[in-house]
Amino acid sequence: MTAEAAVARINVMKPWLGDEEAQALAEVVASGWVAQGPRVKEFEGAFAASQEVHHAVATSSCTTALHLALVVAGIGPGDDVVVPSLSFIATANAVTYVGANPVFCDVDPATGNVTAETIHAALTLDTRAVIVVDQGGVPVDLDPIRELCDRHEITVIEDAACAVGSQYKGRPVGTGADVTVWSFHPRKILTTGEGGMLTTQRADWAARARTLREHSMSVSATDRHGSLLAPPEVYLEIGFNYRMTDLQAAVGMVQLRRLAQIVERRREIAAAYVAGLAGVRGLRFVSDPPYGTTNFQSCWVEVLPAFGTSRDGLLSRLADAGISARRGIMAAHRQPAYRGRDYGNAGLRQTERMTDRTLILPVFHELDTVSMNRIINTIKAAAQGAGT
Ligand SMILES: Cc1ncc(COP(=O)(O)O)c(C=O)c1O
Repeated sequence: MTAEAAVARINVMKPWLGDEEAQALAEVVASGWVAQGPRVKEFEGAFAASQEVHHAVATSSCTTALHLALVVAGIGPGDDVVVPSLSFIATANAVTYVGANPVFCDVDPATGNVTAETIHAALTLDTRAVIVVDQGGVPVDLDPIRELCDRHEITVIEDAACAVGSQYKGRPVGTGADVTVWSFHPRKILTTGEGGMLTTQRADWAARARTLREHSMSVSATDRHGSLLAPPEVYLEIGFNYRMTDLQAAVGMVQLRRLAQIVERRREIAAAYVAGLAGVRGLRFVSDPPYGTTNFQSCWVEVLPAFGTSRDGLLSRLADAGISARRGIMAAHRQPAYRGRDYGNAGLRQTERMTDRTLILPVFHELDTVSMNRIINTIKAAAQGAGT
């Protein structure tokens, strides 16, 4: 270990949790009902209101919400689903869970997101859905995509795993898709430990997702518990156990109340990086697109040749200084699980460029000025060094 690494480690992310979450958990424990129940219902209502949608269905993760989204949209074997390769692998995996075929499309290097053009290049005669991702929290430009998909009768699923608190044209992201999914993993903006949510304006899809997540039983466990002589339940179709617990939902309620504060702080930190590194050549920072605002779930930076040190070289320099940054978003098509799949007609040039050249800087609510200065100074020193 170098002398520098002996100083306090700075992680890429640290959830903002405190006494209020502990108190909320203690109350659930004292109530005696810890599985899916009244707190989950309350969290669903509060989340739907905050995201300006009619229906919210809590799940065990965003991955399971994605699976349910594809099932309620009627996607199955023989269908093609256009997805960005530049995303956490769960986006593509969910498509394979329903027996459909993920078709990878490229992204816009300015945002890291799919566009109507990149989706159009990947359409096939069998395309039934697209999954658009608000990558790293940057809102996807949904309106042109919606217009393209409506013309071809293609369902739009929005993977907003990273994007709670991001805005599209002045509204929360996700309102324009047929169905949207969210993550509450600790790397995200709000956390419930693990957890996810499915939101939609469609009452029929919400109702089906609600039963599917609970083994497709006609009477929920909460309702059965509420009556002394539980009514007999019927299992309508093959379902899943994708339930969130009341313990998670109680934490989620506290976190949701902090959303605006969390996003404000993350935007402050991102602005401080940009200001602190303004004189350094060869760095391109993620920023708000013209049509919306990002929550900076991932504050990514592209390391260009003018920087003088490679992306991996900069990651090593940061690690030597006790700073845990991360390689940029992965590219699913390069993973063994997806080798040999269809890349669409346009290739994945921008995806490969972004996954090879970007890195994600530490951003979390309690990141202090001293730590930030340490990160900025380490990057400045690496910029002055010889090309690694
Ligand atoms: C874009 C995207 N989709 C889906 C997921 C999966 O979320 P979860 O861990 O809640 O299943 C992630 C998690 O990193 C993600 O970044």
